[in-house]
Amino acid sequence: MKTIIEPFRIKTTEPIKIISREERVKALDLAHENVFLLDAEDCCIDLLTDSGTGAMSTRQWAAMMLGDESYAGSRSWKHFEKTVQSITGIKHILPTHQGRAAEGILAQTMIKKGQVIPNNSHFDTTRANIEFVGGIAANLLCAEGTDTADESPFKGNMDIEKLEQCIAEHGREKIPFAMITVTNNTGGGQPVSMANIRAVKKVLKKHDIPLVIDACRFAENSYFIHEKEKGYHGTSLLEIAREMFSHADAATMSCKKDGLANIGGFLICNDDTWAENFRNLLIMREGFPTYGGLAGRDLEAIAVGLMEALEYDYQVYRQATVQYLSKSLIEIGVPIVRPAGGHAVFLDAKKMLPNIPPLQYPGIGVINALYIEGGVRGVELGSVMFGSFDENKNELPSPLELVRLAFPRRVYTQSHFDYLIEVIKEVWEKKDEIPGHRITYQTPFLRHFTCHFEKVTP
Ligand code: F0G
Repeated sequence: MKTIIEPFRIKTTEPIKIISREERVKALDLAHENVFLLDAEDCCIDLLTDSGTGAMSTRQWAAMMLGDESYAGSRSWKHFEKTVQSITGIKHILPTHQGRAAEGILAQTMIKKGQVIPNNSHFDTTRANIEFVGGIAANLLCAEGTDTADESPFKGNMDIEKLEQCIAEHGREKIPFAMITVTNNTGGGQPVSMANIRAVKKVLKKHDIPLVIDACRFAENSYFIHEKEKGYHGTSLLEIAREMFSHADAATMSCKKDGLANIGGFLICNDDTWAENFRNLLIMREGFPTYGGLAGRDLEAIAVGLMEALEYDYQVYRQATVQYLSKSLIEIGVPIVRPAGGHAVFLDAKKMLPNIPPLQYPGIGVINALYIEGGVRGVELGSVMFGSFDENKNELPSPLELVRLAFPRRVYTQSHFDYLIEVIKEVWEKKDEIPGHRITYQTPFLRHFTCHFEKVTP
């Protein structure tokens, strides 16, 4: 087989610069050892997120020129609505400025204090939106999902037994809806199988509990189903996506991922009453229901991007880049989440730095070393992002300490990845010098964005 090449050529470039190691040490010090507080210009390979960081296609840029900026009922809105309906088959489409806005509206209209929302794994903004209205976010990931060495194909699946237990324990009245996140970002970008979505829906239906899909990476999940699940090889990604959404009563979406756009999201549902409640809040928070905080040109870019994300050749190329990095790291011996997920490679910081206790945040040690050694920026998905506190305010660690290197869509080439591999190798060779960290400042919600760290001297 020949090399899988990028199914596009580059038409516009953006310069990047590499500052010196000394300058990076200084920059990280000024950022209180938190890479979220760095200037993006000081990061030469920025893998902080795959969210809103992708490159748009010529077709998207052309569509943007057709943007209709009318306040109500614009042509661009019609294009957006028709596209989302054609992919999801869901009736009511509400645009939002990004995914968390959709989550906020869902949480504020649907969740009462003390109610429980099951999910395979809640993303941090989803959990924050649920907790903000007094809800409880329950993660019911399958056992394989927490074993980073397990090679099972669908490690994002929900544990059906745990779901049944959760319903038995809390009762239907305490569960206004359940969610399933495709792919499971928090657990390593792992996919959810169609069989699992079907099984989740079956259990929920029995108890009359609606299912909401967190659809951020629905196209990548469709690709994994196509590649790995029996019976889907001859089915198009669009058909697979339609089948996934056919099991959902509603969905939240960040178009900054598989919308291949730099901003945008949506909240969709079939129920008319839900839609009315969503719309009332949408108008106050986001904007009129036919633009929802987005410009007409954004709606156009998303409508085109959603369909491009479902192109098979694009997904083949995207997964090839993930495989290229993950295979190289396995060869070097760096512990990573296996198999590699859809949008990122996750380093297993707990295994990389076994001597750093979880509450000294091994993930932060690895993240900061990657920045110092090579100007690479990643993100911790471990005890800083997902840790919690018990009733006595004791900090509890997260089960996993991961470092996510997320791939912006259609942005970096093979030589960028070769450089990245060299940097990770250097960090791996110097792992015994990496210190633990403690938090010196934090906020009650989403602390990872703004908290300050200092190194713990042994
Ligand atoms: N759900 C999942 C699974 C996500 O990964 C994200 C965002 C959201 C919801 C919220 O969407 O950012 O548009 O408000 N994830 C980004 C990330 C930020 O880096 O993984 P948003």
